[in-house]
Amino acid sequence: MTDTTTTADPTRATAGAAPAAHGRMPDNLLRVADLDPTALALMLELSAAMKAEPLGWRAGLAGGAIGCIFEKPSTRTRVSLAVAAHRLGMTAVSLTREDMQLGHGETWADTARVLSSYLDAITVRTFEHRTVEQLAEVAAVPVINALSNDHHPCQSLADLLTLTEHFGALPGLTAAFIGDARGNTCNSFLEACAATGMHLVVASPASYDPDPELLASARRTVATTGGSVTTTTEPADAVRDAQVVYAEVWVPMDKPHEAHERAERFARHRVDHELLAHARPDTVVLHCLPAMRGQEITSDVLDGPNSLVWQQAANRLPTAQAVLHTLITERRG
Ligand code: CP
Repeated sequence: MTDTTTTADPTRATAGAAPAAHGRMPDNLLRVADLDPTALALMLELSAAMKAEPLGWRAGLAGGAIGCIFEKPSTRTRVSLAVAAHRLGMTAVSLTREDMQLGHGETWADTARVLSSYLDAITVRTFEHRTVEQLAEVAAVPVINALSNDHHPCQSLADLLTLTEHFGALPGLTAAFIGDARGNTCNSFLEACAATGMHLVVASPASYDPDPELLASARRTVATTGGSVTTTTEPADAVRDAQVVYAEVWVPMDKPHEAHERAERFARHRVDHELLAHARPDTVVLHCLPAMRGQEITSDVLDGPNSLVWQQAANRLPTAQAVLHTLITERRG
């Protein structure tokens, strides 16, 4: 992990004590870049400790509650957050726009103010990233981005925990991200790789390449962490030296109307045996799921010996637990 000079020992957080983050933790988790490299390393250490002892952190937050506002479908994020809350001794309240007065004219700001008096954290999956930011500006409790159009930080934490488990350490690892590089998964993975000193090659069709501002920011980060970020339109070039190949869905949830066009544009960006023939034999494969089998990834790769996808999905739970525990205990002071 990058820069672990802190004395933090996550195993000492048993019985509800906060991890020794010494004020480095953010008030909210809206994007990966909210965590500096040290905070990110601490979050991953705590995730691993919570995975080893899932019920060891119940005392501090027992009796608390989180809200889960989901404006888009979700399996992994919704369930992992709810179970994580339960494992921490809290309850999770599932909320939708239609269920709440939010769907009947009440503002996000008024909703956030009121929910803050009942809840210890608000998790939200929505469309515009600005909505998550506005919620965080008003809420008196931590806001956790459970996916916006631009960022998916909870996913990236599970990605990094999975790679740490497999490789032992993240700095210097070489990863290839194949597919839509303008989406939330790539944006967050880009920030995660930069913060941990990984070498990332992003392969996407022209005009689906990374956002220039985000790319510039990641390049400033790797100047301090020792990683690198490069882009290409050629998937075979991207995977050639990659220890990790990350497959991404072609059609994001907010763009179903682009399905036909994207199927044509992304046809060469499928992670299958043909593409992996250009990679190292021991390269591992990630996918955030849900997978569209036969589109961005084939079943033989998804279910094959190089796939870490199911471990990656399982790691959504301990990482959700670490995020909830850290942000809530830090905010309480
Ligand atoms: N990867 C992910 O966020 O899955 P869900 O959409 O099922 O939550």
